[in-house]
Parts: sequence; C-alpha cells; structure tokens
Amino acid sequence: MKHFLKLLDCTKEEIIELLDLADQLKQYVKEGKEHHFLKGKTLGMIFEKSSTRTRVSFETGMYQLGGHALFISSKDSQIGRGEPTQDTARVLSRMLDGIMIRTFEQKEVEMLAEYGTIPVINGLTDFCHPCQVMADLQTIREHKGKLEGLKLCYIGDGNNMANSLIAGGLKVGMEVSIATPENYRPAAEVLEFAKGYGAKFFLTDRPMEAAKGADVVVTDAWTSMGQEEEKKQRETAFAGYQVNRELMAAAKPDAMVLHCLPAYREQEITNEVFEQHANEIFDEAENRLHAQKAVLVKLLG
Ligand code: CP
Ligand code: NVA
Repeated sequence: MKHFLKLLDCTKEEIIELLDLADQLKQYVKEGKEHHFLKGKTLGMIFEKSSTRTRVSFETGMYQLGGHALFISSKDSQIGRGEPTQDTARVLSRMLDGIMIRTFEQKEVEMLAEYGTIPVINGLTDFCHPCQVMADLQTIREHKGKLEGLKLCYIGDGNNMANSLIAGGLKVGMEVSIATPENYRPAAEVLEFAKGYGAKFFLTDRPMEAAKGADVVVTDAWTSMGQEEEKKQRETAFAGYQVNRELMAAAKPDAMVLHCLPAYREQEITNEVFEQHANEIFDEAENRLHAQKAVLVKLLG
C-alpha cells in the first residue's frame, strides 16, 4: 500500500491489518507506552475545507508517533492562488515524508499521488472519507466484537460518507443497506462496485426498510461542506430521512448509532437518539486518532 486515497483501492486484508494496528496503537496510548515509530518524519496537512477532528487527530497522531505535522491552509498558501497540483506535489515531495489532503475533487488527491513521490492520505473529498470509515469500522468491532455478518444501515445523503461506508462495509463482510432520496444516491462508481456483492447490498428510498434488523445505524449531515447554497432545498429533500426513535425501533434492540460529526440535531438525527448513543459516537471520534495513526505507520513507517 503506497497511498490511502479511497477504500475501493484497499483489499479486505489491508483494511483488517490497519484495524488490528489501530487497536494496538490505541492500547499503547492507554498504557502510556512510547511508540515513536515515525521519529523525525513530517506530515504536511493541506486543508481546502474546514476541519476539527481531522486536523487535531492527524496533528496529535504525528506527535504521538514521534514526528511532526504541518498545517497548510489553501487560503494562506500558493495552492489557493492556483499553483498547479503537479508542482505542489513535486515541491512537497522534496521536503516532507507524507501528505494528508482535504479537498473538493477526488481527482486532485489522485493527481497529488501521481505527481508526488511520497505517500498521500485522503482526509476527505466530495467523493469519499476513507479515514473516517476506518475509525467507524474500528468502533463497530470494539463494540460488537466482529464485523463479518453485521448489518450496517446508512440513512440520508448519498455523499462521501455513504460512498466510503459502502466500500468499507462490503469489503469487510458486512451487509450494507442505504436509504437516500432518488436524487441523492451514492456515486455511480460505488454502486457499480456494490453490484458485485449481490444481496449483501440494498439500496432504497425508504429509511424504515433499510433500518430493518440493522446492527449499526449511521447518518451524516444533509448539507456537506461546499453545498451551503443548496441547504434549503436539501432540508426539504431529506425531511423523511431522520434517525429518530421510530427509525431505531426498526433496527435491532441493541443497534449502535454512528455519526462522523459535526451533527445537526433535529435534522439528520434527533437529540434523543444522539444522546442515547453519545458513547458510541464519541468513541468513533476518538478512534479517528488511532485509525489514522495506523495508516500513518503503514505508509510512512
Ligand atoms: N468527521 C470529520 O471529518 O470531522 P472534521 O470535519 O471536524 O475533520
Ligand atoms: N459529509 C460531510 C462530512 C464532514 C466530516 C461533509 O463532507 O461535509
């Protein structure tokens, strides 16, 4: 594995290996055991969109691994003034040991990997959010003791989170059901991939059907970064796609709830369901740190 650009590129074995390493690294933190596997290494973190979790977890993760992380905002760098990605990739490759990038187009991340000579990690694009789903899988396995055979259900926008959950969930042997409005379906490329999993994948516009017997219920904001102008229209389109008490009644009684955060209470999820599952949701947020450290050790170590 040279880069971490999308889960569609990863094998089941690679994902499981990363999850095992993430568990081990989490244990080191809990025991206070030094684990400077990336001593002297520097990660550049390019942000073309806002972030709390991704920035803090990568920066803290690099520090805990004995390395250093550099925050590069597109606003204050030449990236925001239009310096070509091909050139940025080659310059950064001469100075850094790895790049994490959060941007709009997946193409930009792929280009960075193509023109640079150092590992590139996708910290979210409009297409996918693979680091988040690694943390999600780690959290599910921690709480349920396994992944294989569990039913994961996603309700809402067929966005970057939906795309990565489909790829990651199916690859590790979960059943994946998705409920989105007709016009907000996951990416065609991902649906094509999911076809290969037959009845293990289920796409509907009816949230209750998707949630039936689910072990894990996941949702995400109705309006993602960069879609702010469509906010009103989206709120109308997603009105029936809320994770609430009625929807949870269709899932298994011991079903978990995950949300990548930030959450918008009383929109995609009620405050009641959010708070009932806050423990799982904040374990998920913490696991960003551990899961990404595994990715960093694997690629930069
Ligand atoms: N879930 C997530 O990626 O959070 P941030 O946008 O705060 O990084
Ligand atoms: N779908 C959301 C995820 C935020 C972490 C977005 O892209 O804004």
